[in-house]
Amino acid sequence: MDILLGLQWGDEGKGKIVDFLAEKYHMVARFQGGPNAGHTLNIGGKKHVLRQIPSGIFRSETTNLIGNGMVLDLVTLKKELVELENMGITVRQNLFISKKAQLILPAHRLLDAAQEHAKGDHKIGSTLRGISPAYQDKTGRSGLRMGDLHQKDFEQKYLERKEDHLEKLKQLDFEVPNWGDLEEDFWDAVEYMMNFQVVDSEYFINDFIQQGKNILAEGAQGTLLDVDFGSYPFVTSSNTSAAGACTGLGVSPRKIEETIGVFKAYCTRVGSGPFPTELFDETGKKMAEIGREFGSVTGRPRRCGWLDLPALQYANMINGTTQLYMMKSDVLNTFSEIKICTHYELPDGTQTDKMPFEIADMPIKPVYKTFKGWEKDISEIKTFEAMPKSFQQYVAFIEQELNLPIPLISVGAERDETVWRKV
Ligand code: GDP
Ligand code: IMO
Ligand code: MG
Repeated sequence: MDILLGLQWGDEGKGKIVDFLAEKYHMVARFQGGPNAGHTLNIGGKKHVLRQIPSGIFRSETTNLIGNGMVLDLVTLKKELVELENMGITVRQNLFISKKAQLILPAHRLLDAAQEHAKGDHKIGSTLRGISPAYQDKTGRSGLRMGDLHQKDFEQKYLERKEDHLEKLKQLDFEVPNWGDLEEDFWDAVEYMMNFQVVDSEYFINDFIQQGKNILAEGAQGTLLDVDFGSYPFVTSSNTSAAGACTGLGVSPRKIEETIGVFKAYCTRVGSGPFPTELFDETGKKMAEIGREFGSVTGRPRRCGWLDLPALQYANMINGTTQLYMMKSDVLNTFSEIKICTHYELPDGTQTDKMPFEIADMPIKPVYKTFKGWEKDISEIKTFEAMPKSFQQYVAFIEQELNLPIPLISVGAERDETVWRKV
């Protein structure tokens, strides 16, 4: 099994590249997260945003698995599925859902909003999709799972959870809006999901491995949002790093072959939390405009900044990355000067290339190396050799500093705007 995951704060372009690679794989499997993810695929000029469905779904030969590590919002899932079915995509045959995937219940979204509100100025900037409350129920050992849908006592179990959630909302002084509508949508979605294929996913995926089939585990969010290793508390509630693929699918670490780390040629972040290379000037605005940096889920503007090598180095260590894919290279086409952060300067004046524990609590100044921009449109170029010299130098520097090859470079949002390179 190979893993493909984001090395930054999410939105690195995972969806585009998983869809591009999926024809090489028998299965694409999501292992964590839920509808906080928004993975964009551009196929033949048409844009699709997947939230919970793996990005292999547009390849008719590829099996897609929603793993046990995910938290699933059935209302959102139904919407996604209906849309795909209307387009003639074979979701009923090609999508499998783990019995152990946790459910996001109607009150989880409200709890997300209430808990964020209670944090005041310290809010995480959550996508408000109920992710954290659903994972809280999972680790609190009271969550409901996909397999429970088919049990006789599901409604009873649901009612018990609902009572607990409404009590918590009361404690948080949260006024519950349109509860009737929320519940109605939930039960409609439960009924719709009854005919989908729900499986013992750990057996299902290990059978694939046993048969020698290729599997790609598709990460959501990014390593710097990992609940253990991200810029805590400004993180999501799951392990977005490579280890999460093992627990989120039931696959042994011994079965992992390649770990592909995907990064943007610069950096973005949506929501609150530290971002050492963030730009607050015209350059940052220009990046956001050219890169169309608006969240695929919430539409919020993404914060933009230069590439951060200490952060990438850290992500590679945690994940055991074996190869790097650089995305959105074309966004830097018109910049005359491009910077890369090689170190951080701490408040006491010392320099480090490590991620400090106190990253969320102290100002960190990035130390940059400056490169001459290539100032040329590279989105039509099909080989690395034909790329401008200064672009080649930018790539070579990153490879050298991170001590990893970059065999793939993405130069546009479409499938074919992708350059393979011998390394
Ligand atoms: P994900 O969450 O990692 O799948 O990334 P998102 O889909 O949220 O955000 C990435 C955005 O960049 C999407 O709008 C993609 O269509 C777009 N994109 C992906 N790769 C490239 C690229 O190489 N160049 C440009 N210009 N856009 C890209
Ligand atoms: P993809 O898979 C970018 C961010 C939120 C917030 C924090 C916690 O598309 O890369 P949550 O709703 O998970 O409790 O929010 O994490 N976040 C993402 N940022 N891309 C994502 O997913 C994200 N999923 C969550 O903005 O700061
Ligand atoms: Mg996204």
